[in-house]
Amino acid sequence: MAKALDGVRILDMTHVQSGPTCTQILAWFGADVIKVELPGRGDITRGQLRDKPNVDSLYFTMLNCNKRSITLNTKSEKGKEIFRKLIKSCDVMVENFAPGALDRQGFTWEAIRELNPRLIYASVKGFGPGPYEDCKVYENVAQCTGGAASTTGFDDGPPLVTGAQIGDSGTGIHLVAGILAALFQREKTGQGQRVTCAMQDTVLNLCRVKLRDQQRLAAGPLMEYPQYPNGVFGDAVPRAGNASGGGQPGWAVRTKGGGPNDYIYVIIQPPGWEPLMKLCGRAELITDPEWATPEKRLPKLGKCFEIIERWTMTLDKLEVMRKLNEFDVPCGPILDMGEIAAEQALRETGTVVEVDHPKRGKFLTVGNPIKLSGSPTEVKPSPALGEHTDEILKSIVGWSDTEIAAARKEGAV
Ligand SMILES: CC(C)(COP(=O)(O)OP(=O)(O)OC[C@H]1O[C@@H](n2cnc3c(N)ncnc32)[C@H](O)[C@@H]1OP(=O)(O)O)[C@@H](O)C(=O)NCCC(=O)NCCS
Repeated sequence: MAKALDGVRILDMTHVQSGPTCTQILAWFGADVIKVELPGRGDITRGQLRDKPNVDSLYFTMLNCNKRSITLNTKSEKGKEIFRKLIKSCDVMVENFAPGALDRQGFTWEAIRELNPRLIYASVKGFGPGPYEDCKVYENVAQCTGGAASTTGFDDGPPLVTGAQIGDSGTGIHLVAGILAALFQREKTGQGQRVTCAMQDTVLNLCRVKLRDQQRLAAGPLMEYPQYPNGVFGDAVPRAGNASGGGQPGWAVRTKGGGPNDYIYVIIQPPGWEPLMKLCGRAELITDPEWATPEKRLPKLGKCFEIIERWTMTLDKLEVMRKLNEFDVPCGPILDMGEIAAEQALRETGTVVEVDHPKRGKFLTVGNPIKLSGSPTEVKPSPALGEHTDEILKSIVGWSDTEIAAARKEGAV
């Protein structure tokens, strides 16, 4: 079946996680993604956190599916010559080097635009223009500087980073949106453009509700936070533990089993109070004026969830989920990665996919979470380092075997 991005060629200068997440999604939408890697070593993640000797790590194989790989030293003269030809024949270039890395090689935006005015040049950096623009940034730096860490965790503990890679993968996905918008605009103007996403900005975008709460603080304490009504609110949004970020109170309560993930997250919408209290054996609280309304419950949310927990601890988390969903009470069992890996429904939708890698064998990855009815995703294994070097040099750069051999001898590929 045809794919949404058939015919779109991406020059993928990305490494580690943020950039590769972006280009992997573009590949899943059908783009021809050419991953450029340093000869000899390649993307540093090929060798990081290896679980098997001499086999590309899961870090690499889970972020670089459906791509082609060419080795190219863009600092060598011959490498620059090849790079210029690739720039001229691609639609989009994506990179996430440290600030200024490509400029230092002579590939400024102005120089790139001159080579190919239709090119969309997309970058991830840690920070946007300003005092920190030259800093190198990894995931947790972005989580800390984008507002996530100060608002995650419990009031009496240190700031916490989250396991969701909102800085890296979050930024990669934002960059996808920018690239697709630029491609759409190019349809009308014929011109490429610069697309940039700073990791700090995208983490903040994902923490939007916390900036909302910062402003609400001026009007008084945040009543859905666990600090209310007895705790102290300072000048900044405090850590909210497991309190819901939305308008409906929620909390993670324990379930039967006592394991580290024997919990379920329960949300108390106003219509859910009655069925919840019936299930908890506390029907008298449905009409008790001290408990019957959301306003009355707000100052005693801790007690509400204690009542609910006394009931949830008698059942396992999936039983609780079934019972609560019979009454449309929103809830979510805490699923660990083992449970998610085994979840049949996720396999059936292609969100969890088993991939057969020529050297590694079978492994699980997260497939495309964005489903297009007219452009289904087939997940293919990541390429070996330089697997497609000759093929790309011949078919796109137009070089002969002799020219390729000479470039290889010089270490340019
Ligand atoms: C992630 C990051 C911290 C890694 O830093 P790093 O390992 O030192 O890697 P750099 O990006 O600085 O690249 C190292 C060098 O390799 C060079 N290089 C990489 N690929 C090359 C290639 N194919 N040919 C020639 N040189 C290459 C770069 O030009 C750079 O050279 P320079 O130091 O002379 O400028 C940094 O790239 C960064 O801050 N990126 C932007 C934010 C980001 O995406 N972070 C999230 C990562 S998941």
